[in-house]
Amino acid sequence: MPTTILNGKEVSQSVYSALKSRISALKSQSITPNLAVILVGEDPASQVYVRNKTRQFSNHGLFSDTITYPSDITQEVLLSKIYELNKNNQFHGILVQFPLPNHIDVDAIINAIDPKKDVDGFHPYNLGCLTAGKPIFIPCTPKGIMRIFHHYNISISGKHVVVVGRSNIVGRPISILTSLKQVNSNGTTTICHSGTINIGQYTKQADIVILALGSPEFLKGKDIKEGAVIIDVGINRVDNDSPKGYKIVGDGEEASLKGKASACTPVPGGVGPMTIAMLVENTVEAAERSLL
Ligand code: GUN
Repeated sequence: MPTTILNGKEVSQSVYSALKSRISALKSQSITPNLAVILVGEDPASQVYVRNKTRQFSNHGLFSDTITYPSDITQEVLLSKIYELNKNNQFHGILVQFPLPNHIDVDAIINAIDPKKDVDGFHPYNLGCLTAGKPIFIPCTPKGIMRIFHHYNISISGKHVVVVGRSNIVGRPISILTSLKQVNSNGTTTICHSGTINIGQYTKQADIVILALGSPEFLKGKDIKEGAVIIDVGINRVDNDSPKGYKIVGDGEEASLKGKASACTPVPGGVGPMTIAMLVENTVEAAERSLL
């Protein structure tokens, strides 16, 4: 079966186009959406992600400010920075890039962010609203996945959606979003994780598989049914002999999935660009709400 490539880069361009008039309307009221990013430590992947995020802000005429700290920063200093950013009206959104060093209590950091500026949608208030089916800020990667479904007219109503991974960033929220009693949702969602016995038994029954476990080329063609839709959130570095010394692969094995899946997201160029576009959209939303 021919496999449609779900081009997240292209979908993200349509998101940015749709945001243009909203950004202009804000600017006509002297407001430029502005995101504060906190980056702790020297993790190369996090540095790349943050650079990619802030680049899109400037590409679209928005502001962002990256505040960097060494990995031995204390929790107290980090918390006081967040309290300061909460009060600073110049910033509409606050993003703390994860992962954080082990000595930092991640929950304390998330809880400290003003839910009105929580453009990542990780604060328990925003997660609660999402769970109740009345989302305010939706986490960027799950929101981006839903937008890919919408863009390509992939209906999930009545479909069996199997999510592999239960992180608070992707797996958990996408399992909620795909099963809400709403137009563009209404799926029957199964969530698999590290405690699941024989994950393949579930993915083989799925109409849609969402991979968010962070394990290179975990899902093979033999583990899916003919015609399934595969959404691959994984971005894994695998060492090889190339000049760079590594390549980026997803959680799915592209070679064996292609030809059996009806559609799949590429890595890179699938979910990644959508995560960033949704961060820009959430920051625009935060700026709009700041006027209410
Ligand atoms: N690390 C990996 N993904 C994300 C994300 O979506 N937001 C933040 N803040 N950190 C991340």
